[in-house]
Amino acid sequence: MPLLPIQSSNVIVANGCSGALEIALTALLDPHSIVLVPQPGFPLYQVIVESHGASIVPYRLVPQHDTWECDVSHMRQLLQQYGTRVRAVVVNNPSNPTGAVFSHQHLQDVVQICNDFAVPIVADEVYGDLTYRPHQPFYPVAQVAYEMGNHVPVITASGLAKQFLLPGWRVGWIVFHDKYVCRLFVCLFVCLLVCLFVCWDGIAVQCFF
Ligand SMILES: Cc1ncc(COP(=O)(O)O)c(C=O)c1O
Repeated sequence: MPLLPIQSSNVIVANGCSGALEIALTALLDPHSIVLVPQPGFPLYQVIVESHGASIVPYRLVPQHDTWECDVSHMRQLLQQYGTRVRAVVVNNPSNPTGAVFSHQHLQDVVQICNDFAVPIVADEVYGDLTYRPHQPFYPVAQVAYEMGNHVPVITASGLAKQFLLPGWRVGWIVFHDKYVCRLFVCLFVCLLVCLFVCWDGIAVQCFF
């Protein structure tokens, strides 16, 4: 299977993986919208989501196959229940706090559900490649989605501090794996930068002239 192609125009550098998650979720959310997040899971998802007047709905992680896995039937049930209010499913692999590394088959099941409900995946892969069992390698969700026909948009977030063992280095990134969403995000990001420069110029003019 060919490797997932990645272009530099699909990457945005951020303030750590936390900043990357913030950009990704901010762009997807409206007030009253919903994001499915793993439980137990990293608490930052809730902080970001609620800061936009949106809500998290936790899907269960359950002990299974000598590790922890997403409860896919619970995930499906929540997607059915909340319908189009669900803007994204956060998949954290390898997982904090369970340490689980999802199998290829399990990731296929998760991608299939998101495909069935046309929901993008926000993949928090900040611990990508930090695996300790040779029989449980790390598979990026975006690669699995690509192998399955690339129908599900995947926004991957990661950073230097964990994946590259550089604690304290506040460098992260998001990578878009969807041609339409990618263009939209890049436009949004450029608009934000333009606004910042315009504001900054305004302040400078007020202060110095
Ligand atoms: C699952 C998970 N995602 C993201 C982060 C944030 O990473 P960063 O330090 O690069 O902001 C952490 C940090 O503990 C984490 O555990």
